[in-house]
Amino acid sequence: MDHGKVGKTPKGKVVGRVGELTHGQTKKFTLRRGKRDFEAMLVNYQGRHFAYVNRCPHVGINLDWIDNQFFTVDGRYLMCANHGAVFEPPTGECVWGPCVGASLQSLPLEVVDEKVLVRYREGDEE
Ligand code: FES
Repeated sequence: MDHGKVGKTPKGKVVGRVGELTHGQTKKFTLRRGKRDFEAMLVNYQGRHFAYVNRCPHVGINLDWIDNQFFTVDGRYLMCANHGAVFEPPTGECVWGPCVGASLQSLPLEVVDEKVLVRYREGDEE
């Protein structure tokens, strides 16, 4: 299977559509890497899309206690519900909490024909 090698159109998984999410909204999806599925989320922050693996760099568990609730109440940051770490939505960097300076694992996105795709990395599958 081609995973976006140089000179070819990168392949990926459609995880949303342009206009589906507004600022402060998120949508969870799964990817498979090797034999393991992992959860991730698509984020709309000020009209721009970002995607991160749903795993806090502090302890390595999911960020959301309430399903698909990632933003702080004011819509300014992504937050880990476990110990309150907050992350800059455009970079995933933790700016407050027990893992300051660490970052969420970002996933590369691409928009093709109004579809938001997460580009596969080596070893990723649908
Ligand atoms: S597990 Fe996320 S802040 Fe502790």
